[in-house]
Amino acid sequence: MRAVKAVILALFVTDLDNTLVGDAAALIELNGWLTVCRELYGTRVVYTTGRSLSLYHQLVSEQELLTPDLLVVAVGTEIYGDCGSLDRSWSRQLMRARPGTKRWNRDRIESIAASFTELLPQTASEQRPFKISYVLLDRLASTVLPRLRESLSSQGFDVEIVYSGGQDLDILPQGAGKGKAMNFVQTRWRINPSQTIVCGDSGNDLSLFCAGLERGIIVGNARPELLDWHDRNPADYRYLAQANCARGILEGFKHFGVLGR
Ligand code: GLC
Ligand code: MG
Repeated sequence: MRAVKAVILALFVTDLDNTLVGDAAALIELNGWLTVCRELYGTRVVYTTGRSLSLYHQLVSEQELLTPDLLVVAVGTEIYGDCGSLDRSWSRQLMRARPGTKRWNRDRIESIAASFTELLPQTASEQRPFKISYVLLDRLASTVLPRLRESLSSQGFDVEIVYSGGQDLDILPQGAGKGKAMNFVQTRWRINPSQTIVCGDSGNDLSLFCAGLERGIIVGNARPELLDWHDRNPADYRYLAQANCARGILEGFKHFGVLGR
């Protein structure tokens, strides 16, 4: 494979559970490097998680996390800025429908999904204005997901259906998701994809890796849904680490020349 030029890291975007978090010693080491990158290059740190804001705060109370420059929660449907305030222009964007389709209508979409008895609603804290979440058994996913997609689209709803970790199903407005939220932030900060590193381990991170030419680090403990996609779509700007979680991110930093080769 062709060598990718060393990255001047302007933007570091990472998932939390089983990506940044999962190896406490490696996380502390990585935090040290990120602090250096922030000082040397002005690197901005963005966390992007499937968790709601309340479950994010719970994680903060349990782990040594740096304070990010910006926080994306609920699978790219809510962006919280510097002072912890919700970015309303992103929320407004999620309400726009593509021509010929209906606007996001949480109640209607939820009632369509309710006819699928295989879908078990997740806990109340994870039901968000632009995210409807269920548990769906892995063995049922390949039959239920196409039927759900078909049922929603036949009623005019244009949604993103994201399946992660062999159990979590999220229904989001079209144009939402971690990758699209990252693009919104890159545009605002005028940051180039080639100066962005994205990291993840599961299905809800896939949109980060296929957004464009961002340098990708898939951690060694990644889930089959992400590994299978990577096998089918290899790219020299994406690195599959051997090590797990933050140790895998450090390995990826080395690969991309962030810490010197
Ligand atoms: C997090 C969220 C959950 C979501 C999952 C996958 O675990 O809490 O609601 O379904 O991520 O995106
Ligand atoms: Mg994860």
